[in-house]
Amino acid sequence: MCGIVGYVGPKKASPLILSGLKRLEYRGYDSAGICIIDAEDLTIHKKAGRVVDLEQSVDLSHLTGTVGVGHTRWATHGLPNDVNAHPHTNNDGSIALVHNGIIENYLTIKKKLINAGYTVASETDSEVLAVFIGMLYDSLGNLEQAVQTALQEVDGTFGIVVASTHEPNQLIAARRGSPLILGVGQDEYVVASDAAAIIAHTRQVVYLQENEMAVLTRDGFTTKTISNEETHSVIEEISFELEEIEKGGFEHFMLKEIYEQPITFHDGFRGRLLVDEGNVRLGGLAKVQEKLRTAQRIIITACGTSWHAALVGEYLIEQLARVPVEVEYASEFRYRNPIIYPDDIVIAISQSGETADTLAAIREAKLKGATVLGMVNVVGSTIARETDAGVYLHAGPEIGVASTKAFTSQLCILTQFALYLGRMRDLTAEAGRELAQGMAQIPDQIRSILEHAESIAHIARQYATATNFLYLGRGYQFPAALEGALKLKEISYIHAEGYPAAEMKHGPIALIDEHMPVVFIATKDETYDKVLSNIEEVKARRGTVIAIANEGDHQIDRLADHVIRIPTTLPMLAPILASIPLQLLAYYIAVERGCNVDMPRNLAKSVTVE
Ligand code: G6P
Repeated sequence: MCGIVGYVGPKKASPLILSGLKRLEYRGYDSAGICIIDAEDLTIHKKAGRVVDLEQSVDLSHLTGTVGVGHTRWATHGLPNDVNAHPHTNNDGSIALVHNGIIENYLTIKKKLINAGYTVASETDSEVLAVFIGMLYDSLGNLEQAVQTALQEVDGTFGIVVASTHEPNQLIAARRGSPLILGVGQDEYVVASDAAAIIAHTRQVVYLQENEMAVLTRDGFTTKTISNEETHSVIEEISFELEEIEKGGFEHFMLKEIYEQPITFHDGFRGRLLVDEGNVRLGGLAKVQEKLRTAQRIIITACGTSWHAALVGEYLIEQLARVPVEVEYASEFRYRNPIIYPDDIVIAISQSGETADTLAAIREAKLKGATVLGMVNVVGSTIARETDAGVYLHAGPEIGVASTKAFTSQLCILTQFALYLGRMRDLTAEAGRELAQGMAQIPDQIRSILEHAESIAHIARQYATATNFLYLGRGYQFPAALEGALKLKEISYIHAEGYPAAEMKHGPIALIDEHMPVVFIATKDETYDKVLSNIEEVKARRGTVIAIANEGDHQIDRLADHVIRIPTTLPMLAPILASIPLQLLAYYIAVERGCNVDMPRNLAKSVTVE
């Protein structure tokens, strides 16, 4: 949700900022801009569209300055046009700012600025902050103090970087609610929303804390809180390699990430799953082990794809550990004064670890005394830091906006968590072993599904012009149906709905005619026969059926128009395997429709605003 890059050092800043912005485009890609301090002037170029459109629209090679900031935007306030693009400046153009987040009281501040004779040209909340800092500079005559005072007055969230002709060798960065990471190089600093924009320059990073600000020059950096207390920074090491954020020969990041799943799934249980003991070792949960043993209730909170993983988690934990589980959209949970008891366990699931609603939900849960756990992919992210304990997904950087490998890794972690909890309670070693053995086979089973990708592409091409899709599944496959539908709508813009198969007769059946493809997840479990009856009902209404079914199941052949085979596993592991063809189906349909698969319109990978 908006990407920010700032550079101060000995090198030409513009190419470095532009390449950093390209790595952050997954965070937003509706407009881009750059500001370089050149010969003690601010030179700004900004444009609606992608970073490459900015590069093509103007010759940036003449910018020789070594200090600057850049931004790639996901619009919150105001259309994605040139005027609303960042950087924004104060009225005399001496201070430039890039911002990720929302200034909630911007209208009040705007009024104050206008009454004092200042003007605001764009519709953005961010420009208001830039002009406000300018007004404070006019009276205080000190940039650092002006930024600090402005931030003390604003409500809402921000990651900002400020560059100014008043301090041409300096950048000021600050955060509240939006991530900012400071890359520490040799006589140089790169400040960015994500380590992806930093890793090409240095592996040494400082994660700015909530309400912290930093002043950077070539000679060093200082930090303090926005309310002026001292802070101490810890330098940490980035945990992934540069190749992990490259496409590696695939046409899209999404396809690469789909194909990575045999490895990422394995990485999720490597060193954790104890197959012979039918148990799991989760070091990150050791300190809350006793609380987990006695917990009476678990609440899982998440958004988007992570929420679908949470639904599978509910079924798993209730079946294996017999602990009641509630799954909550983080955005709903935080605003309805949820009933939370001190012995509740609240689990946040998040790929990015930065989703604003999920973060707010765990803060609410902590306030009410619950033990809060994180299942997060991005190491060092805010949710990972603010939870009492947790388990990393170890899926590596996920760049494609539509989540794929993070989803299967979430299921990998949730399965292990349920097994761990179950074995602490009543689950037998034998049942544990059966599940662990099943998990250990999943990477090879995913590989075998990927080998048949071409047959899925073939089906996809036949349905790429459909305008609606229905996805149906039962039990463990119901969340997989929701996730399959979400993948399709995210990247192909086809309307798709996921439903529990048996609910179809309570509404969606009215939609079925010869133009409605219905994807059934019909793997063998206790509801298999009922799902077959649902397929009959669709066929009786001339609907088209694409079935995901087990290898060797030929009963389904006479009913379905197309059958996509997946290997047989335990029902509780089956949504992991079903997700793979559903991801491929969505991917190939989107490619056939000519959609921008990695950067679907209107979406952003990391939603750091409410
Ligand atoms: C955005 C992304 C989704 C993601 C959701 C939750 O909407 O586009 O792909 O599932 O946020 O993100 P998180 O990082 O918390 O898993």
